[in-house]
Amino acid sequence: MAKIKSSYFCQNCGQNSPKWIGKCPACGEWNTFVEEIVQSAASLRGTSIGLESKKSLPKKLLEVEFENENRIDTGSGELNRVLGGGLVLGSLVLIGGEPGIGKSTLMLQIALKMKHLSVLYISGEESEQQIKMRATRLGEDKAETYILTETSTQVIFKHLEKLQAQIIVVDSIQTLHTETIESSAGSISQIRECANELQQYAKLTNTPVFLIGHITKDGNLAGPKILEHMVDAVLQFEGDRNYGYRILRSVKNRFGSTSELGIFEMQSSGLREVLNPSELLITQRDENFSGITIAATVEGMRPMLIEIQALVSSAAYGVPQRSTTGFDSRRLNMLLAVLEKRHGFKLSSKDVFLNVAGGIRVDDPAVDLAVVAAVLSSNEDMPVNPKVCFAAEVGLSGEIRAVNKVEQRISEASKLGFEKMFISMHSFKGLSQKNYPIELIPVSRIEQVFSNLFG
Ligand code: TYD
Ligand code: MG
Repeated sequence: MAKIKSSYFCQNCGQNSPKWIGKCPACGEWNTFVEEIVQSAASLRGTSIGLESKKSLPKKLLEVEFENENRIDTGSGELNRVLGGGLVLGSLVLIGGEPGIGKSTLMLQIALKMKHLSVLYISGEESEQQIKMRATRLGEDKAETYILTETSTQVIFKHLEKLQAQIIVVDSIQTLHTETIESSAGSISQIRECANELQQYAKLTNTPVFLIGHITKDGNLAGPKILEHMVDAVLQFEGDRNYGYRILRSVKNRFGSTSELGIFEMQSSGLREVLNPSELLITQRDENFSGITIAATVEGMRPMLIEIQALVSSAAYGVPQRSTTGFDSRRLNMLLAVLEKRHGFKLSSKDVFLNVAGGIRVDDPAVDLAVVAAVLSSNEDMPVNPKVCFAAEVGLSGEIRAVNKVEQRISEASKLGFEKMFISMHSFKGLSQKNYPIELIPVSRIEQVFSNLFG
């Protein structure tokens, strides 16, 4: 019998230590080390999934045949785009998200939508009845969707031998356990080993596998960073629960871009794809309030107009508050410092609140100018014309910098009926105003924006 060996693992990041320690040296969390029994790798090799592995031989790269990258249409345009144009055969895709955000709903819906393929939906969390109830609620019907409520990977692989499903969904990786490791389900070594087995299965049989993974309170994938390294793509499903919108964001993708976004709306009969996000993200307003501006952003390949709301008021307490939703708070602090230091706006004694409408989160630097304009508008208490939008980055010295894909942003803004758009002087070079129905306002300093808006 192989010697039983145990080791301590940080349940937050997967760090390994031969003895118990209080504080994880890798992620800095306290009291996260738990003893787990591991067997030596040699006793496991090749035995865990019951499939012959292919012989590997060194080959000349020239001799490798390129099978035209075969992608499967998932039946959801949004998911296809986030995956980089469809699901790649043999890929392992991790879907992460907070509990209750809709991961199971999304995957079941996809499983039901892929009409031409047989899908096995493995659930360790819900009973067959619960899944059936959800499927009825989604109102989709399909013969070739199989449900398996099982958590042992060995049993799962046995079933797969017979069933030969073309797509596998695992809900969730934290509930699986493999017999080759003795620690409890959900522990780091279990998660790692189960994912490893599924990865081998995916590669050997060329079957795409979706893994659903939980996320901890601080937004990390529960347990292992290692999981992120093992899979081919990590998709994050997120959204503010008070809003109906859900965003599927690609965080890692070996077969596509990582800046793609899919937008869904949670309805009583499942998730609906949002094909034209701009119209949803801009509130229709009759009255004109100060502190609201529109930014023309691009997420991945898709241009999108979003509303930025700012509130600037005198600080009620000694220390002014800075609070943001959907925008990086350090970036806001930097922009406020630029306004204070370079342009003399007295904001250091003011509370500043910033909100990106619709519960969406943006990382695109091109929203900087819209943020600055919203802050200034609220500070002056003068509204910005709702037919005006912005797309430019603001640098540390207050210069207004060019952004990428400016033409896409301009055409999206014109399509939605905007009349004026502030862009950087540098973006404007090479563009010709007469090609666009929208009036472009090239600027290089914040003062120019200020005098144009409020002067
Ligand atoms: P679920 O998929 O169970 O979330 P997760 O798997 O990420 O934990 O989603 C649960 C939420 O979605 C729940 O609050 C109910 C809501 N929901 C709808 O609003 N409409 C629907 O059609 C379905 C199936 C769920
Ligand atoms: Mg679920």
